[in-house]
Amino acid sequence: MCMSGKDSLLSNAWYQQVISDFDMTLSRFAHNGKRCPTTHNILDNDLLINDTCKKMIRELLNTYYPIEIDATRTVEEKLPHMVEWWTSVHELLIQQKIRRDLLAQAVKQSSAMLREGYKVFFDRLQEQQVPLLIFSAGLGDILEEVIRQNHVFHPNVHVISNYMDFDQSGVLRAFKGQLIHTFNKREGALLHAAHFRELKERPNVLLLGDSLGDLTMADGVAHTQHALTIGFLNDQVEERKESYVNSYDIVLVKDETMDVPNAILNYIT
Ligand code: TMP
Ligand code: MG
Repeated sequence: MCMSGKDSLLSNAWYQQVISDFDMTLSRFAHNGKRCPTTHNILDNDLLINDTCKKMIRELLNTYYPIEIDATRTVEEKLPHMVEWWTSVHELLIQQKIRRDLLAQAVKQSSAMLREGYKVFFDRLQEQQVPLLIFSAGLGDILEEVIRQNHVFHPNVHVISNYMDFDQSGVLRAFKGQLIHTFNKREGALLHAAHFRELKERPNVLLLGDSLGDLTMADGVAHTQHALTIGFLNDQVEERKESYVNSYDIVLVKDETMDVPNAILNYIT
């Protein structure tokens, strides 16, 4: 682990903010050798979608996830595929007329888990009044339910994500705002300028992600003084190690815990 002298510069909670991805960063990639679901995959539940739709969403995952993590393709090459993936899945979800009142139950029944040590992480930031922005290309409504059910949706948490738009009877009819996928978080950040403006007195950023696209989440911070970036490398480790080490300050390989972020927070806040 190398912090390249940034540790002392980051010290002082008053000037800090934390920006984190959600799926496979705050949530676990695997548990006991089994993959944990992303927020999209939590919807793979009989309560919400039928078998044909489940099959189609799984096929889309099998087609597009390998592209998302392909170390041989550039971000530019991946972009149109990501738009296709997200758009197709969201259209399928709308066709299923998903009911808002069943989302909490689907989250309860899922095997989604936050990384070990998550409570220390969220509680510490809340105690120190450090804002935590969760910036996710997943589903905001589901993400909020996961952190609520884990009792860490504290007042210092702000979420930027894809939110569902329900009609008056509580049935999904569209998605709100600009689509966020893995590789357009920079544009997403710039669209949420008001959030970053509010935090303009906090120029020191701790950033957590699991994709190289997550590194652009802090692009909305106008005057970053110091940024420390932590990347969780969950999958395709050998193929992607070099690019992660070249891009993130700290790279955690197949680490399902928040131990390193917690140790850093313990030191700097
Ligand atoms: P994140 O920005 O919170 O990590 O969320 C994006 C992740 O969601 C990304 O790694 C791909 C994943 N995903 C699925 O697992 N299933 C889907 O249907 C879609 C559209 C995305
Ligand atoms: Mg992620």
